[in-house]
Amino acid sequence: SPEYKWFYEYPLPRTPVKSKKQYVYRIVGVGYMSQIDYYEVEIKSFTQQIYPDLPATPMVGFDGMSPGPTFVMQQNREAVVRFINNGPSNISVHVHGQYNRAPFDGWAGDMTSPGQYKDYYYPNAQNARTIWYHDHTEFTTGEHAYWGEEGYYILTDPEEQALGLPSGPYDVTLVIAAKVYNSDGSLQYDNNHESGLWGDVILVNEQPWPYMNVEPRPYRFRLLNGAVSRTFDLTLNTDAGEMLHFDVIGSDCGLFNSPVNSTFIALSMGERYELVVDFSNFQNQNITLLNGRGVGDNVDYPATNKVMRFVVGGSSSGGSGGVPQTLRNHEEVAPPASNAKDFTFGRGRGGVWEINGVGFRDVENRILTKPERGTYETWQLRNGAGGGTHPVHIHLVDFKVLSRTGGRNEVADYESAGWKDVVWLAAGESVQVIARYAPWDGIYMFHCHNLVHEDHEQVVFLLVPNLEK
Ligand code: C2O
Repeated sequence: SPEYKWFYEYPLPRTPVKSKKQYVYRIVGVGYMSQIDYYEVEIKSFTQQIYPDLPATPMVGFDGMSPGPTFVMQQNREAVVRFINNGPSNISVHVHGQYNRAPFDGWAGDMTSPGQYKDYYYPNAQNARTIWYHDHTEFTTGEHAYWGEEGYYILTDPEEQALGLPSGPYDVTLVIAAKVYNSDGSLQYDNNHESGLWGDVILVNEQPWPYMNVEPRPYRFRLLNGAVSRTFDLTLNTDAGEMLHFDVIGSDCGLFNSPVNSTFIALSMGERYELVVDFSNFQNQNITLLNGRGVGDNVDYPATNKVMRFVVGGSSSGGSGGVPQTLRNHEEVAPPASNAKDFTFGRGRGGVWEINGVGFRDVENRILTKPERGTYETWQLRNGAGGGTHPVHIHLVDFKVLSRTGGRNEVADYESAGWKDVVWLAAGESVQVIARYAPWDGIYMFHCHNLVHEDHEQVVFLLVPNLEK
């Protein structure tokens, strides 16, 4: 059994920002020209020293790194990204959290084979938000994300930039994952195992249990659970065991109207939360990010309670970057009377995972629902037979979490404060979400973001017909 002897010994890697290649121009109307940013990304194999005492790990990633380069996009500045597949297997790239036209959404069957490329068009028309991109190939999404095919896609807008939130070196992406390594340094993954891959090694930005030197000042952290199957219940702790309070400022679909103070964050796969943590009062101390959640009834590995450590220095180079009490001023529109629908996430015959008894291979029935474009619908998501945790992701839309019954029995304040595109449906729970099915018509996936469940068919489709008057 492995010995873990290097907690908080290696620095947190910071992910580079992707630079654009050139501009392409498109004529939109007579006498009108719009400028579109153009990027090229190459998917390829690489090796990286991950596990300190083992040989380097063979991986596959965007631009040959993991996490892939971070896109930083400006609102209302469209982009085209050419994803060139020089990797070993098919890919389908999904930007998770952006409303894309269906042909550019990276659905599971839209494969780009090795040696091919595909140009994706991204409108970047939504408000500032922390979104991410990952491979979405049918039956192998979990494996591909695990080899390294995931990264951040940050959308920013002028309203957000005016807030004076911590920026530059004080704005930090933290993608948390959990993996298993063989003694030759390679990653272990069994695609036939259908309940999940929990991982004994916790990684942040692909480094096991790293540390980060921070100044005694506020930082903005963009958390993403990029694990295949592991959920986290995160707290920040002093060496004396005191839990820090921090401000949660946003979630999957952008900033809240006001910050929500918390001491913990529950983070299931695909979810994002943005925190501002103020280290000002913790000069020359360690603040450790710990995970309080195990893996249900299964026996957990010994060190999965540890995540990473912030080592706070004695002085700050200045600058405040605190948190304003008003972050956004978006009125809550009371949604009109809506259609109510029910979806049960359960285990079907042969161990596959299904939604309302339908799985991805059931091509005849897998378009499970047809919301009219522009209408609100309330969906009851139920965790049914077979248990397990199902982070439910609906493509295309932002939704609000209305209620949770069974299991934890409540919606956390930071879950209801903003709009989301993934909601954690834990064992025994039933969660109600409301969304407006817009702006595009087309066929979009909705699925469980436990990527092992997704690859074992817990994916169906919604068809948004163009019926808007
Ligand atoms: Cu994060 Cu359908 O994906």
